[in-house]
Amino acid sequence: MIVLGIESSCDETAAAIIRDGRTILSSEIFSQIDMHKPYGGVVPELASREHLARIETVVDTALRNAGTELRSIDAVAVTQGPGLIGSLLVGVSFGKALAFGLGVPCIGVNHIEGHVYSVVFENPPIEYPALALIVSGGHTNLFFIPEERKYKVVSRTRDDAAGEAFDKVAKMLGLGYPGGPLIEKAAKNGDSKSIRFPKAKISDGRPDFSFSGLKTAVSRYIKEHQITPVENGGEPSREINDLAASFQKTVVESLVGTMRKVALELKPRTLVVAGGVACNLALRDSAEKLGKELDIPTYFPSRHLSTDNAAMIAAAGYAHLSRGESSDLSMTADITLRLQNFDNEDAGLKKKGVPYRL
Ligand code: KG4
Ligand code: ZN
Repeated sequence: MIVLGIESSCDETAAAIIRDGRTILSSEIFSQIDMHKPYGGVVPELASREHLARIETVVDTALRNAGTELRSIDAVAVTQGPGLIGSLLVGVSFGKALAFGLGVPCIGVNHIEGHVYSVVFENPPIEYPALALIVSGGHTNLFFIPEERKYKVVSRTRDDAAGEAFDKVAKMLGLGYPGGPLIEKAAKNGDSKSIRFPKAKISDGRPDFSFSGLKTAVSRYIKEHQITPVENGGEPSREINDLAASFQKTVVESLVGTMRKVALELKPRTLVVAGGVACNLALRDSAEKLGKELDIPTYFPSRHLSTDNAAMIAAAGYAHLSRGESSDLSMTADITLRLQNFDNEDAGLKKKGVPYRL
């Protein structure tokens, strides 16, 4: 089965052609980063206009690079949400119209489920139950996946997403946008033990994440120690490198520490770490160590599949389509779409006395 995937939830216009859910024939990504850079973040209105201008070319290029043509497409999978409404609408309208015109099924895909499926191309099949940490600029969630296509959120962020924290701290340090890769680069030259930042403790005992306190601590540290942000793309000072390394270490420990706690309780057979922040090598190292400790495999997507792309959307769509599921034409962009179709009783979490909410 040949699936065309379309992704336009944020600032990447992407299209991919995949075969049988596991082989990428082509994956095109048009990134709008340069357009949004001067504003230090994504400007929603500009993003949707740019998607509109690019989507046809991106889909055409994906078809050409896959050596295929429209009539060979068996189904269209498109990101339905969550994301920016104007951006999502471009992909959803395009995908639905294309599928309708071709007379093939169309499926609306949850972007986060797409990130989970980003690991299927380069790893052995996921063994369930799995525990998936999805860390991006918009989301930080830990999912327990007892079987394919069933998800239970066991941890979520109470405030900022991990990627957002990287982006905001990079901005404070004058490193630029997007912040994750720039913090990682600065951190390589810094001492991660030089500053001890506080790790968030959630008072109700739930294994949730929180990064706004850390962000405030970094901001206070910058003021108290009169750290001068990098100017005009110059080299970061030693102080900035140390701060970046210490911040990164705190985020990684908080993410993987929570994953460890939950994994010891729920005993998954596979760990998955995906989303833009999964590009971070310190996070990869730490999650891989956890897998070794638990004696289970840890799956990551490679770099180009970690950040937003359409191959992962096509793969998640395939998982549903191959079971006969598809959306009808009333499907529309949904910024509130949740990946949570499973309750605690089903997952056996209550029986284990784990205090996860419904
Ligand atoms: O998945 P993604 O492309 O888009 C969203 O769905 O949000 O993730 C983008 C996020 C940005 O916040 C970016 O700073 C972060 O991923 N990121 C990183 C790294 N590369 C990208 N964070 C930490 N370290 C990295 N190397
Ligand atoms: Zn994403």
